[in-house]
Amino acid sequence: MRTYHKPLDLVRERSPERPVALVRPDILAVAAHWFQAHFKGDVLYAVKANPSDWVIETLHGAGLRSYDVASIPEIELVLRHAPQAKLAFMHPVKSRAAITRAYFDYGVRTFALDCQEELAKILDATGNARDLNLIVRLGVQTDGAAYSLSGKFGVPMDQAPELLLATRRATEELMGVSFHVGSQCMRPTAYQAAMAQASRALVRAGVFADIVDVGGGFPSIYPGMIPPDLADYMNSVHRGFDEMKVHETTELWCEPGRALVAEASSLLLKVELRKGDALYLNDGSYGSMFDATHFKWPFPVKLVRDGVASSELKPFRFYGPTCDSIDAMPGPYWLPEDVREGDYLEIGQMGAYGVAMATRFNGYGDTELERVGDGPMASMFGLAPRSIPVPRTEDDEARKIVRFSRPKGAAGKKRRKK
Ligand SMILES: Cc1ncc(COP(=O)(O)O)c(C=O)c1O
Repeated sequence: MRTYHKPLDLVRERSPERPVALVRPDILAVAAHWFQAHFKGDVLYAVKANPSDWVIETLHGAGLRSYDVASIPEIELVLRHAPQAKLAFMHPVKSRAAITRAYFDYGVRTFALDCQEELAKILDATGNARDLNLIVRLGVQTDGAAYSLSGKFGVPMDQAPELLLATRRATEELMGVSFHVGSQCMRPTAYQAAMAQASRALVRAGVFADIVDVGGGFPSIYPGMIPPDLADYMNSVHRGFDEMKVHETTELWCEPGRALVAEASSLLLKVELRKGDALYLNDGSYGSMFDATHFKWPFPVKLVRDGVASSELKPFRFYGPTCDSIDAMPGPYWLPEDVREGDYLEIGQMGAYGVAMATRFNGYGDTELERVGDGPMASMFGLAPRSIPVPRTEDDEARKIVRFSRPKGAAGKKRRKK
């Protein structure tokens, strides 16, 4: 991996044919330090958000020692870079073979579950080990999030007390509760509300928790999605924890994925063809742009051209490189109206659930990796603007064109009068 001052230097030097993940380890380190300084508990990185070597290396270098893993390959990845790491296997449904290997080969002691069957499976697959830390994933309400993760996992709250009691009896070590308020949670109070629900379930079960794990869900910045300050999320978690009926020794954990890595990486893509307002790119839905397709997130974009570009912006849609027609990203992505074949685009805020999602469909999906020294397009950590403007003017619907600044002269006066 080489270091370039900014993406344009890379384009000037070698016009990359393949998609490039532009990585900013220093930005990730700032995010990791921020979480460790402001969260009054243990911060576990949710490896699934970006399982790249540079991410684990950087987090380890920034002092982060705990990781939420969901599979044996994620365990192996973390241990390659951080052999002493604390690993928590937080996937609520695991294969017997994975549990056995995690416990016997990799020394994992912390496992999540959300039903009696998984509890029995964990006990059986570890030879009825008594030194397990068992964490019950609760199905709390998740209405404040852009992506709800409810439905698939989490014991329904009316069944939680029975499972909590059975889990408490199954281990001589730690028993905990966890939940996930949903990814890109836009409402800080969702954590406090979920903790109140967890507390009620514990009281009804008549057990104390040794661990309260508030999961992930901490947000990043995308066009049209400007979350409250992360400090508000920390306050909500800490208030929620103070209000819970727990021991003095109860540990508080969180598992951020998106908020840690989203702004630390962007993508550099090439325009292979332009057809009207459609740009055909060298990466798409089957590559790193899963969310842009399936959740229609309009990620921020910049033209990276060695030369002048039009100052008029126009909305574009993107297509990816595969032959599948769902390889389409509606956007709108606002770019100079003269964008053309051969141009490069930087797609910002792509560090979380970007390269992590890539497949090899149609022979595409390989991404190169280069380091850049400039800042992200937006930052929750004071490293860039706190928002990403979404171009909108009174008449852009009609004209589908927007200018950077108010037009001067008669046109400007006419618009101001309206
Ligand atoms: C168990 C668990 N923890 C943490 C995360 C990370 O969530 P986020 O990226 O929203 O912080 C996820 C995401 O799916 C998850 O399933």
